[in-house]
Amino acid sequence: MDVTEIRSRLERFGQQHLLAFWDELDDPARGALLADIEQVDLALVADLVASHVSDPDSGATLGELSPPSCVAAEPGTPAHAEARQLGETLVAEGKVAAMVVAGGQGTRLGFDGPKGTFRISPIQDKPLFKLFAESLIATEQRFGKPVPWYIMTSPATDAATRDYFAAQSYFGLEAGNVFFFQQGVMPAVDPRGRILLAEKDRLAMSPDGHGGSIRALASSGALADLADRGVEVVSYFQVDNPLVTPVDPLFVGMHQRTGSQMSSLVIGKASDTERVGVFALAGGQLKVIEYSDLPETLATARNADGSRTYDAANIAIHALSRTFVEQITRPDSSGGGKSMPWHRARKAVPYIDATSGRQVTPDGPNAVKFEMFIFDALPLADNPLLLESRRSEVFSPVKNADGVDSPATARRDLVRRAATWLAASGVSIPRATDGEPDCTLEISPLAALDADQLAARLKDNPPTIEAGARWYLSGD
Ligand code: UTP
Repeated sequence: MDVTEIRSRLERFGQQHLLAFWDELDDPARGALLADIEQVDLALVADLVASHVSDPDSGATLGELSPPSCVAAEPGTPAHAEARQLGETLVAEGKVAAMVVAGGQGTRLGFDGPKGTFRISPIQDKPLFKLFAESLIATEQRFGKPVPWYIMTSPATDAATRDYFAAQSYFGLEAGNVFFFQQGVMPAVDPRGRILLAEKDRLAMSPDGHGGSIRALASSGALADLADRGVEVVSYFQVDNPLVTPVDPLFVGMHQRTGSQMSSLVIGKASDTERVGVFALAGGQLKVIEYSDLPETLATARNADGSRTYDAANIAIHALSRTFVEQITRPDSSGGGKSMPWHRARKAVPYIDATSGRQVTPDGPNAVKFEMFIFDALPLADNPLLLESRRSEVFSPVKNADGVDSPATARRDLVRRAATWLAASGVSIPRATDGEPDCTLEISPLAALDADQLAARLKDNPPTIEAGARWYLSGD
């Protein structure tokens, strides 16, 4: 195997230590190492080291911020009816796809396997992927057209995710309408910008963030597939939110009706200190400011009426026009993919010392990882739209093993939402003294995707739910 060319390329970028153990490696190990090196854009890493590692404060200024305007689509208004109608028509014409990002490592949850396989529903114990699949099947049944589903994985989740779908017979979806694509990876670097070795024959690589979905859509062929199918709007969500409706015709309709290239659902923050990003205008551009970047004075700021000034929380539910994704991934375009910024994260990354060959397990952050965030596409979009929604209807993420944003809170919120829908259908819900439902409830997405559908379904035969009951409504 001739490595002369690779060695000189590595030398040009000060990364020649990656071949430190070359002479000890057998052929398969050499192949694995070269394959890893080949995946790395060394010029990009050099640029990122200059901007994010050697000079980490550059570009970190937020500038002047102001709160953005959000649109409310109140039920019963003409805007609501028209947007919903338009969204339903788009779905019925096969012009809407779902896309979930499922490449994360789920470190905080500490679950062994892709997060989408985590069992979450309160009675049936359905995994997240099954809830989304049932929702898409229900949408297809309603509008008569399958909704293609694009699932972004990473090297860590790809094989297990594909195997899981195959073992579950795609939860009843047509396999040809489920498209898996892998996101890119980026190497971790030390404070001097040297790429770390995870093993003597492997680089320390990690997924390039949920924003990597934009370039992965293009590089994987998913974007071309969307175009072939005539899809106009991509409905984007995260794998860790069991309350999400993967394709919400109202949201899609509002997006299309306002000529927005990228839209986001918005909910009010739970508290000043909630760890979510907020939408804000920075120099007239719509952006998401991460909770860690929002100064306390702004996080606690109030309007004259006492409401929170920066209250519009980002819950990572977006609608993207397919042509917008094409535009920002076109290499020669002025608003091209390159203008989505990279972020750095300081992490503890175990590595092999290139001089001694010893395995090092650091106590604290020793390395920098690079990631892109999906919301950084917003400033590139024309007419970005923020649509108000309600937390109890759309958002309860599974992030941590316990406490806030955990499986326990997500299950509680699924039960609460089912109780709200049932109550709106005229069903009496037994409640404990603290007002919480005194029963466990689960409604299959195949039975109803919203309160209106549930009311229509139960109209002639409303159930009686006893205190302490476990009540499940299937789609049968
Ligand atoms: P998080 O930022 O919550 O990360 O991802 P995570 O990997 O799931 O969890 P932790 O931080 O390790 O505990 C939000 C969403 O973005 C996806 C995740 O799968 C999740 O749906 N994601 C994140 C990717 O698809 N790729 C990434 O590189 C990062």
